[in-house]
Amino acid sequence: MASALTYEPVARCSTTKARAATLHLPHGPVPLPIFMPVATQASLKGLSPEQLAETSCRLCLNNTYHLGLKPGQATLDAIGGAHKLQSWPHNILTDSGGFQMVSLLKLAKVTEEGVRFLSPHDGTPMLLTPEHSISLQNSIGSDIIMQLDDVIATTSPDHARIKEAMHRSIRWLDRCIEAHKYPERQNLFCIIQGGLDLDLRRQCCEEMVARDTPGIAIGGLSGGEEKESYCQVVKTCTELLPDNKPRYVMGVGYPEDLVVSVALGADMFDCVWPTRTARFGNAITSKGVLTLRHASFAADFTPIEEGCTCMCCRSEADGGLGITKAYIYHVTAKETAGAHLLTMHNVHYQLSLMRSVREAIIEDRYPAFLNAFFNKLYPNKD
Ligand code: GUN
Ligand code: ZN
Repeated sequence: MASALTYEPVARCSTTKARAATLHLPHGPVPLPIFMPVATQASLKGLSPEQLAETSCRLCLNNTYHLGLKPGQATLDAIGGAHKLQSWPHNILTDSGGFQMVSLLKLAKVTEEGVRFLSPHDGTPMLLTPEHSISLQNSIGSDIIMQLDDVIATTSPDHARIKEAMHRSIRWLDRCIEAHKYPERQNLFCIIQGGLDLDLRRQCCEEMVARDTPGIAIGGLSGGEEKESYCQVVKTCTELLPDNKPRYVMGVGYPEDLVVSVALGADMFDCVWPTRTARFGNAITSKGVLTLRHASFAADFTPIEEGCTCMCCRSEADGGLGITKAYIYHVTAKETAGAHLLTMHNVHYQLSLMRSVREAIIEDRYPAFLNAFFNKLYPNKD
């Protein structure tokens, strides 16, 4: 099918399956591997578009389901899409909405037609079909749009349901391809399902790769499965995916999962965790997560992470804010300012981690990078 992206390979690791590339999208180039922060309500909670761009983010995630409810399709059409609505000149990826409804709304029901749910606003029955999701994403104007898929928790014991969801996701992909109005300016990605069953995953890869979408996602993971099973699924899929297309593992965002998934051949990731945990007063650092609400930081006048170049940690002499752990400790208790600062730091951390990953792949020292990364995170283990 038509595409609105170019995948430009840059380097491959000689020992792992890690890849570095540049993904050229309608709103500018994006370095791969990449972490995409989630901006649910048309903005990253607490950050202005300028502040988000300052973290070096050039591709963020929006949700079709949220934008479709508010401001709604008519407003999106009138204003000319989400880039204009949010004053965001860079790239946007939208998830199709079904996954969010099923995970947020206990009352969502999946049928062959689509996902049925009650509006959280007024309780009226609604139906999100593959066609409607694509129509909304066409109105949003996102650079990457996702197919509507049928997602079952990997921990579900209902194998028949997992198999049905995999086959239904393939049928829904066909309906999404058919409904997509602007393949020359918006890139539709398929989503591989199949739970932890490697045979189902293989079948799904084969069927979806044949549909030739511009990019490919691996879905249905990060739902509490064992790391070992997670890795087997990612590895099984990446081995069957074409070399010349971006591969996106949905819902993954812990730093250790990112670096391992890159070694397994994945390129793109998203997760609400870095921004959500910021709002709980937690900072991501190379030595692990710091809970800055803890009183032990009350008189710690060092930056969140020594050497971090984010707006929050950077010294005032270098044009930053020179924020200390003690400052965050004192403001998070009663103000949202601490949450904003931590959001900036956490998003910047994730993006600069991926930048270091990319450099290590380009210089063909990714295994050594992984070693150093895990030694720093878990210094007492081998
Ligand atoms: N976000 C995390 N996992 C998934 C998935 O399997 N499908 C969709 N659409 N979104 C996700
Ligand atoms: Zn920082």
